[in-house]
Amino acid sequence: MSAFSVSFMGSDVVASCDASTTILDACISTGAPVPYNCRSGECGECRARLMSGSIEEIPGADPAIFNDVDRQQGDILTCMCFPRSNLELDVPLKSNKNVAAIETINTLVEGITWHGREILEVAVLPPSPISFQPGQYFDWTIRTNGVKRSFSAASAPDSEMLWFHIRLHPDGIASNFVSDVLRVGDFLEITGPFGHFKISDNAHRPAIFVAGGTGFAPIRSILDAAVSRKDTRPVRLFYGARTSDSLYCTDDADRWRSTLPDFKFFPALSDEPIETGVDAFRGNVTDLLDSELGSEVFGAEAYLCGPPPMIDAAIDVLLTKGIEKEDIFYDKFLPAKR
Ligand code: FES
Repeated sequence: MSAFSVSFMGSDVVASCDASTTILDACISTGAPVPYNCRSGECGECRARLMSGSIEEIPGADPAIFNDVDRQQGDILTCMCFPRSNLELDVPLKSNKNVAAIETINTLVEGITWHGREILEVAVLPPSPISFQPGQYFDWTIRTNGVKRSFSAASAPDSEMLWFHIRLHPDGIASNFVSDVLRVGDFLEITGPFGHFKISDNAHRPAIFVAGGTGFAPIRSILDAAVSRKDTRPVRLFYGARTSDSLYCTDDADRWRSTLPDFKFFPALSDEPIETGVDAFRGNVTDLLDSELGSEVFGAEAYLCGPPPMIDAAIDVLLTKGIEKEDIFYDKFLPAKR
């Protein structure tokens, strides 16, 4: 199949992309450091201005983040387009420092553990250590139908095994696969690492983490890596769940209390009755963030991961508290389309 070139204004970087590969996937696999997050038309991170060439767009982009107004001004979502000629794009390239090569590997399922009734932790053993940045994610190939689903690594890169957290949804493709099909001893094909959600090198700055649901997974990877490199920055972790059944990170929080020099944990439960006596704030995690954040905001960076409404609300709180927009990093966990 003939391949087209994808070049970038003001850069020597050139990617090669065949007609049946999305521009984004071709850029990622050839190491072009383009911005992206969801790879499915839902976050808008991969937006680029098409300076020359022609493309074919795959239907399915969320019209709230990309619509005809964007198309008319010449923008494209690189994750939703195939090339139909050589292309030149105008897009701010990211640093490709520490960018690991994308690999597809067969891993061995070593453990499947329930956390409450909704979250499963799956531990897999790769044939050799995988290079990735804490906070990145991998695609799973669901072997029953070939569908791909993305899950953040919940373990640090120096861990022998890769851990993933899967929230079960009724009739979810990955949910059914993990709960009904996948068993210890099976092989699981994964591809990655993907994504740009990772902690900065500014080791002297306080770090505020806000997680909802399994948005805890990449933060767990980041904080375990922080322990490994003896990070000394102040860390505040705000975690939101609906009930105590989904509050599955307390053991990790206890561990970080004794392994990180300045760590505080703030759990919030939105639907847990007061009468249960569980030691956690009752309400939304963003309300807790608003009430608890104090002087630690000075010079802080914030890392948010979870459902989009939680992230949008947390950004509003953090901006009100004086954290600069460019110091807020987030990874929106979007529900799979099917
Ligand atoms: S990466 Fe393309 S819209 Fe999210």
